[in-house]
Amino acid sequence: EKDGYDWFMRKEIFEQPHAVADSLLGRRDAEGRLQLDEMRLADEELRDIDKIIIIACGTSFYAGMVAKYAIEHWTRTPVEVELASEFRYRDPIIDSTTLVVAISQSGETADTLQAIMHARAQRAKVLAICNTNGASIPRESDAVIYTHAGPEIGVASTKGLLTQLVACYLLALYIAQVKGTRYGDEIEDIMAQLEAMPDHIRTVLDGAEQVYELARAHVGTRSVLFLGRHAGYPVALEGALKLKELAYIHAEGFAAGELKHGPIALIEDGLPVLCVVPPRGRDHLHEKMLSGIQEVRARGARTICLAEAGDTSIEPYADHLIRLPKVPVLLQPLVACVPLQLFACELATAMGHDVDQPRNLAKSVTVE
Ligand code: F6R
Repeated sequence: EKDGYDWFMRKEIFEQPHAVADSLLGRRDAEGRLQLDEMRLADEELRDIDKIIIIACGTSFYAGMVAKYAIEHWTRTPVEVELASEFRYRDPIIDSTTLVVAISQSGETADTLQAIMHARAQRAKVLAICNTNGASIPRESDAVIYTHAGPEIGVASTKGLLTQLVACYLLALYIAQVKGTRYGDEIEDIMAQLEAMPDHIRTVLDGAEQVYELARAHVGTRSVLFLGRHAGYPVALEGALKLKELAYIHAEGFAAGELKHGPIALIEDGLPVLCVVPPRGRDHLHEKMLSGIQEVRARGARTICLAEAGDTSIEPYADHLIRLPKVPVLLQPLVACVPLQLFACELATAMGHDVDQPRNLAKSVTVE
């Protein structure tokens, strides 16, 4: 059932173009308007929503961080993202115009389930983004967006994450459509860009061998840092989590702008720093990221940069360069996560670890 792959995880990484395409399937009606089958929240209810709180754990939490950028940008609705395990304990401000979005691949994560019970008790509307039909979390929610990743067997989430991202973008666009914060043709443009993503992910996967080689060259590495900005920040956190859980290597992700507020003290000669470079655009994100990369390199870091095709400005500062397809900044996580998955999977494998069953971890965490 591994279809010739050595690990479920690797198989699932390579299934991502398909999984993303499946998660986009059937989301538009004959007129091209977005429709979400299991939405079950009336347009009036959605229009009344004045705050969104996203709750999730681990990798799903990082999907939530990306969702915040997309939802706020496209819908102008304020979004908080909170670790499910922390949510209940801070006396969150919730009422009937709050939409709580719970993101969970398994649908059984106890922390997330308890958090939505708490939200419901305070009359919030709850929407689940889930990959498992009929699991506890969608059962306890008012509405569901199912991701169509298919069963995820490897303990580390891969296609689960990418399809969660798709669901988050769809939710954001749906709210934009209902609230009228984005015009139909804009929504169609973004949908078209989303529909191009499976091909872009395939392009990244075609370059797997380069990432594998780089990964194998890192056997013996004791620590790796990950830097990102904007939607690339959660990608950096995800890259670090994958490396911790699979290769048992100390890894940390930082928002690149925070470097100078402390983490830059960690940089020493030869330290690998993986940098998720935002696409070049109108704002100054790209330039800011570049200067962050120069800073760490000047202090001896060895930089591995993920940057879009055609971005030559990065070349002088990258010890290794992994190219990403040219996509909008908000959608970049869909391509940028993939080399980081490949990197962690290959490095862990080269170290002789079981990537499908990493030590101390379980696929569904049903205890709080
Ligand atoms: C990391 C990973 C975990 C899960 C987390 C939440 O690779 O798989 O961090 O993302 O335990 O699980 P779900 O999404 O099932 O609630």
